[in-house]
Amino acid sequence: MKERVLSGMRPTGALHLGHYHGALKNWVSLQSSMDCYFFVADWHALTTHYESREVIEKNVYEMVIDWLAAGLDPNHCTLFLQSRIPEHAELFTLLAMGTPLGWLERVPTYKDQQEKLKDKDLSTYGFLGYPLLQAADILIYKAKYVPVGEDQASHVELTREAARRFNHLYGREVRFEEKLALTFAKLTPEEVKRFEKSRKKFQETGDLKSLAGAMDFVHNEPRLEPSDKERLEGYFKGTGSSILPEPQVLLTQASKLPGLDGAKMSKSYNNSIAIREDRATQESKVRKMPTDPARVKRDDPGNPERCTVWQFHKLYSDEKTQHWVQNGCLSAGIGCLECKQPIIDAILLEQQPMLERAKRYIEEPRLVRDIIDAGTEKARITARETMKDVRQAMGLNY
Ligand code: TRP
Ligand code: SF4
Repeated sequence: MKERVLSGMRPTGALHLGHYHGALKNWVSLQSSMDCYFFVADWHALTTHYESREVIEKNVYEMVIDWLAAGLDPNHCTLFLQSRIPEHAELFTLLAMGTPLGWLERVPTYKDQQEKLKDKDLSTYGFLGYPLLQAADILIYKAKYVPVGEDQASHVELTREAARRFNHLYGREVRFEEKLALTFAKLTPEEVKRFEKSRKKFQETGDLKSLAGAMDFVHNEPRLEPSDKERLEGYFKGTGSSILPEPQVLLTQASKLPGLDGAKMSKSYNNSIAIREDRATQESKVRKMPTDPARVKRDDPGNPERCTVWQFHKLYSDEKTQHWVQNGCLSAGIGCLECKQPIIDAILLEQQPMLERAKRYIEEPRLVRDIIDAGTEKARITARETMKDVRQAMGLNY
């Protein structure tokens, strides 16, 4: 059984190469070995874009096309839309009951983003709750790993705290050992021995036959009450004591690709190249990239260390080309436009398969909707199951 991985992205604009090198490429490489759930975090986008919902509307399916273009394969991972699964909101509400305000106020992104996005009023209830909504996203699928960048690590940490608190308040059966002993007392010593033996086997080897056999016995045993059955099941599977398992962050290396001006690549800085940028625009953007200011005239030598184009070469070019850049720049042997050509070519080469994969989805938007419909339906089954347990644990099963 593959371990579950979950991550999301906010649909606030076309994805660029920084997203590709900083996150998406990693998602693509995870999808074959893990049980991956990737979703469009449109509610999270609304926490900052509540006054410009058309941005979100426009970008939900566009972002999914970017994902598919980058190589996410709906046969290997589950792609879905947050707002179609109201259970996320339900868990968010229930977790909110026991989450101290201070936990949320102390998450570093809260103040940072308020500072950074000064043009928006982010003194909202929704924005304060951002990391807790994220916790609900993660916990509802009992995800083991959350691949995110450093900036999101504090949100995963809050998720772990929220899970711990929930399990502490509702998840752990009080005096579990004592109750387990009482349950065992309803069975014969031989039966208990057999149960323990098969539990050991299942937990050590994952043997599904042992699991099926034991569950069959437990659930058809008239001497056991429903609560005994549940207790034994949880004990057998090793999940008994915690309803919401704590996830682990899977830190993604930051993208080594800066923006066209050397700052972090970001759509709002106007220094990005979109994943699906058309050829001519990409070319003209790279041609316009600022270079070492020392190179005023073609004969003026430069220094690659003072030039963003060199950062691109470090990511995209082989050793031979890198030598050519170093020598050519320091000796004024090459011009800057000449120096940029291999970058233009390399980006084109990287984008080519993405553009090809995107083509059929652009031509047939129905396909994208079908992928999201299927993924959402699948995800919702898991979300519903978790909520059943959560409601029961909180005593909401009236
Ligand atoms: N906050 C994340 C970001 O801005 C997006 C997100 C929402 C997310 N819910 C999540 C990421 C759950 C991982 C898991 O990048
Ligand atoms: Fe930058 Fe290349 Fe021009 Fe040197 S030659 S300044 S590395 S673009």
